[in-house]
Amino acid sequence: MPTNLFDLSGKIALVTGASRGIGEEIAGLLAEQGAHVIVSSRKIDGCQAVADAITAAGNSAEAFACHVGNMDDISAIFAHIKASHGKLDILVNNAATNPYFGHILDTDLGAYNKTVEVNIRGYFFMSIEAGKLMREQGSGVIVNTASVNALQPGPMQGIYSISKAAVVSMTRSFAKECGPLGIRVNALLPGLTKTKFAGALFTNDDIYQTAIQGIPMGRHAEPAEMAGTVLYLVSDASSYTNGECIVVDGGLTI
Ligand SMILES: NC(=O)c1ccc[n+]([C@@H]2O[C@H](COP(=O)([O-])OP(=O)(O)OC[C@H]3O[C@@H](n4cnc5c(N)ncnc54)[C@H](OP(=O)(O)O)[C@@H]3O)[C@@H](O)[C@H]2O)c1
Repeated sequence: MPTNLFDLSGKIALVTGASRGIGEEIAGLLAEQGAHVIVSSRKIDGCQAVADAITAAGNSAEAFACHVGNMDDISAIFAHIKASHGKLDILVNNAATNPYFGHILDTDLGAYNKTVEVNIRGYFFMSIEAGKLMREQGSGVIVNTASVNALQPGPMQGIYSISKAAVVSMTRSFAKECGPLGIRVNALLPGLTKTKFAGALFTNDDIYQTAIQGIPMGRHAEPAEMAGTVLYLVSDASSYTNGECIVVDGGLTI
């Protein structure tokens, strides 16, 4: 076993949804540990800013735009990875969408399709493309950002919660079939974290106070508090962890 269980030197890592929030913190931490990080989201400018900050700190990163709900974008980023790096050691599926807040009976087809295309189909085909590369090298790790909503559906967030439960099931399915190929697949289930994604909860004090009351630690998480669990899951520190879904929620789901 290496001395530093968290050392990622020589690893190529792809982090989706890395232009801000939880993904940005994950990208920065993996780069700090020695990985070359491909910072990805839909908009290249935000990705480039994160990659530049990583590089300015003396670490290694590049930016590449990819809308994970778009199959052509998925093909393009993996063609780029194959051509530029010839391998992928780490995939963090973190980019997700939550376009609808309202009663489940009023969900329209557009919100349903967008949620499923990004949160389920996107994670699924990103994992397939990564898994094929990892199979060739006989090693690799995938981490999926799900949500505590996978375990306890969020009120007025039906289709989003359903998609996150699918990510938990996807994590276990890939872990089971890819374990024999040397690929580990695990998930992070964040609780309430202060990002743009959860912005609606932070701008309405009544909703925020209600959300906080259910958290034994009595506070929300900062995005950086999610990154350590991902580092654990992508590193040798978790070399025998496969198909696990780690809840990081301040005790909400106790
Ligand atoms: N914040 C919370 O309380 C919380 C709780 C549980 C789970 N989560 C999960 O944590 C993950 C990260 O969310 P966050 O809170 O960090 O949100 P965030 O700060 O809003 O960041 C979302 C990131 O995803 C990118 N993105 C959005 N749609 C995309 C798409 N179709 N394709 C590629 N990239 C896309 C965004 O950049 P572009 O706009 O450039 O695409 C951005 O980089 C998500 O999976 C979310 O479900 C968050």
